[in-house]
Amino acid sequence: MIPASVNVVAIDGPAGAGKSTIARELSRVLKLPYLDTGAMYRGITCAALRLGIDVHDVDAVAKLASTTILEITDDALVVDGVDATSDIRGDSVTRAVSAVAANSIVRSELRERQRKWVAIRGGGVVEGRDIATVVFPDARLKVFLTASPFVRAQRRVAQMGGDVSQIEHDIAERDHKDSTRSDSPLRESENAIVVDTSNRTIDDVVNEIAIAFHG
Ligand code: DC
Repeated sequence: MIPASVNVVAIDGPAGAGKSTIARELSRVLKLPYLDTGAMYRGITCAALRLGIDVHDVDAVAKLASTTILEITDDALVVDGVDATSDIRGDSVTRAVSAVAANSIVRSELRERQRKWVAIRGGGVVEGRDIATVVFPDARLKVFLTASPFVRAQRRVAQMGGDVSQIEHDIAERDHKDSTRSDSPLRESENAIVVDTSNRTIDDVVNEIAIAFHG
């Protein structure tokens, strides 16, 4: 059997680097399904907040992750039968999600779900923080997207409003947590192509990645 990861584009990078925008467009161009793994961590976080579970309670959150049903489509996330599409982008989930993403049992549960999701569909454009390094180390193409902290903060403000310098500070804090945690920290995979999206158009970046995919 051909491993499903043959048709995987693994996209990692920090918050605001343009992963979701680029991955969605790339999925359209390459005709591969799109999976936002960050939404899965956000979905478990949302389930914990709904139930009043402390996100730092490692055992309780691990148990929750094994039973929470996540229904993921291109533009929606349903958590245990209740739509959570906008809640997962809200401030409370955004503030709490790093603690959930640092939980090794949650990571191992979601990693398996991500591999199954791709295996069933025969491939995908998969974005996250550990996709090239841990989840699909044999992906056909690995991409590390980055952008300057200021540009990343400006993009978040354009999407959600707020103050650029406060958001720049929050982004730096979350990057630090994501890249210094002991389990699957955010880092470039050895053979990833590194693309700085700061001063480039979406089409330009998608083109470069599509060309690299067809190699
Ligand atoms: O990409 P995002 O902002 O929606 O991700 C939400 C959080 O989940 C963020 O703190 C990083 C974490 N995450 C992760 O640890 N591993 C992934 N594969 C995807 C996201």
